[in-house]
Amino acid sequence: MQFFIWFSSAQQCDQPVTTARFDCYPEPSISQEKCLARNCCWNPTNQLLKTRSINNSLEIGVPLCYYPRDFPSYKMTSNESTAFGQRLTIVKQQSTYMPNEILNLTVDLFYETAQRFRLRIYDSTKERFEVPLEVPVVKTKVNVTDYEVSVSQAPFAILVKRKSTGVTIFDTNVAPLIYADQFIKFSSYLSSPFLYGLGEHQQPLLINVTNQWKRLTFWTRDTAPAQHTNLYGVHPFHINVEIKTDMLTNFHGQFFLNSNAMDIDLQPLPAISYTTIGGIIDLYLFTGPSAQDVIQQYWDVIGKPTMPPYWSLGFHLCRYGYNSIENLRAVIQRMHDAEFPYDVQWTDIDAMSSSLDFTYDQNNFHGLPDLVRSLQSEGKHYVNIIDVGISSTQPSGTYPPYDDGLKRAIFRTKFNSTEPITGKVWPGLTVFPDFTNTSTIEWWTNNAVTFHDIIPFDGIWIDMNEPSNLIDGSYDGCTNNSLDKPPFVPNVLGKSLSSKTLCPSAQHAISSHYNLHNMYGYFESKATNLALKTIRHKRPFVLSRSSFAGSGQYAAHWTGDNDATYEDMYFSISDILSFNMFGMPNVGADICGFRDDTNEELCTRWMQLGAFYPFMRNHNGVQKDQDPAVFSWTAQQIMKQALIMRYSLAPFWYTLHYRAAIASETLLQPLHFEFFNDNKTLGIDRQFLIGRAILVSPNLVSVNVNAESIFCSLLLYPCKTETHAKRVLRRFKRAYTRLCYKIGENSVQTRF
Ligand code: GLC
Repeated sequence: MQFFIWFSSAQQCDQPVTTARFDCYPEPSISQEKCLARNCCWNPTNQLLKTRSINNSLEIGVPLCYYPRDFPSYKMTSNESTAFGQRLTIVKQQSTYMPNEILNLTVDLFYETAQRFRLRIYDSTKERFEVPLEVPVVKTKVNVTDYEVSVSQAPFAILVKRKSTGVTIFDTNVAPLIYADQFIKFSSYLSSPFLYGLGEHQQPLLINVTNQWKRLTFWTRDTAPAQHTNLYGVHPFHINVEIKTDMLTNFHGQFFLNSNAMDIDLQPLPAISYTTIGGIIDLYLFTGPSAQDVIQQYWDVIGKPTMPPYWSLGFHLCRYGYNSIENLRAVIQRMHDAEFPYDVQWTDIDAMSSSLDFTYDQNNFHGLPDLVRSLQSEGKHYVNIIDVGISSTQPSGTYPPYDDGLKRAIFRTKFNSTEPITGKVWPGLTVFPDFTNTSTIEWWTNNAVTFHDIIPFDGIWIDMNEPSNLIDGSYDGCTNNSLDKPPFVPNVLGKSLSSKTLCPSAQHAISSHYNLHNMYGYFESKATNLALKTIRHKRPFVLSRSSFAGSGQYAAHWTGDNDATYEDMYFSISDILSFNMFGMPNVGADICGFRDDTNEELCTRWMQLGAFYPFMRNHNGVQKDQDPAVFSWTAQQIMKQALIMRYSLAPFWYTLHYRAAIASETLLQPLHFEFFNDNKTLGIDRQFLIGRAILVSPNLVSVNVNAESIFCSLLLYPCKTETHAKRVLRRFKRAYTRLCYKIGENSVQTRF
């Protein structure tokens, strides 16, 4: 029977090119039998037969199992004009291969602005989960648009073209629409194989699928940045370059407003496919036409970034493993003695008492509150870490954050239960606040206020908020229900949605973890921003590892636990450029590398690059010290020179932040956004622009030279020999050691 179905539709399986195949069996355990059971086409090719595992994830190639052209899809049954645009109904006659397919759907077309189009496809009869993000509600359509939209009846498809050029910017007539309760898949042509965005992933800036198939997975995850895996944040937004008769012309953007676990597949047709396991289809198109226009139009939907306090533009110093107040004081002292411009000192979990949030270690860090006050009296600032896991094993009555939280019932609960779900973070067994519950905000603020009375911190660093869990699911496992065991799991690291996080069936006040996992960091950032405002009555500084579309309204971001390698230094550029597009422009990477020991040449180069990150923090794990003052005198001078450059640009940075906050301009941008007529700039990600005016071209490779030679080349001195270099250095030494820059809350002071 199956053989017959496959054979009878063989013609429908003919595709002019293999790049026009759309994957009908994305799961890893593929076989001919399973493919044919879905009534799909099975046709192995010699090309790219790879499903090989890289870092535990799949790299995809030409699908072996793909949809025939007559695969059942939806048919339009009505099309009415409405005040906002059009409302259509679409119907499918038969279910196909996923459980609980929804056969009656409503399609709303919103002509929101001249450049912004919104498409919503949802169940006609039953309400489904929708992303709790405040987006503009547009009730009346605009009449003149940059785009024209047409729909076809059977199979239902939607086509969007740019009016002025006729270029197709969206066309779903490439693959069937599948809409099941826990599996929604739709595809569209791309205007070109060149895209930017789709984060958070470690990848080159330009996503080029000319000859490549790609699957990018979106499920927030605590893991050291690596290619081909889901990472800390979720931003299903991209910018697509348009091509007309071989010329790069305009840009348009797409934002898939969906917070469920998803895969986005890209293929050389070129085409894009979204596969999500929940929510609805809620898709925005932004027609630009410039890249910055697209970004502005995107930020109009997700919210503009927050304006940071001026002091946070300075140099930040942190590490995991000061371990004692003596070591911390020693670092501060040597930074002072070496006359480094530096504004913000941080502490990590080693300064907590037994890794408990809202505490400090009164033995090893005895006197920390006084140290913080003395730093503040010199105009410096202090930021401390708070992790999301609240210890649940302290003796009753000894740890108010837990006792009070339990009383207020603000912790996330197990499925169908009022009992908190328990995981494990640094202090051992922990429970997790539910930031979607309004009582949690009050509880969080109270804890922060009480702790601020002890240590008057200026900013808060929120970490492990994917949320990260050192055990999979929970202390007592997960259920077998369809949230914990969905019929389809995107290509997440660890192969399971509960890998190193909580069970998807855990409950928040407003929905399940299955629906809200990707937004945990978003809600925590929002709550922490509010708590800081309440405490300090000033513009807050919050640093968050996990993020979702819109997080930039509340927090800055760093790119997580990178390695002390030249490769990770290079990837930091595409990361920070992408986060600029994502509306979280106050971003930086751990300068000199977080994992493994750095070395002087790498750290010097990274300090030079980091001086041009919007957020500049040198931070590492439990390895060797890597604060600038620990290196040789010569290396220090180079780092100092980079810092001086940064500090002298502080007013410029501040203006850029202001422009981002009020006019939706990115702080940094790829060269191609400015020089879009020059095809050569398309993939440049070893250089970038600050604003529109400054081109940064860092050294990203080891040339195995000592600091003296780097120093000479910086001074543009032709130091040909080491002796000559040393002579030059001696001459400059006196001048350099007199430099001291300080940045205050309101002004930059320069003293020689
Ligand atoms: C996580 C953070 C890192 C921090 C460490 C200890 O790995 O990403 O920055 O130092 O936890 O808190």
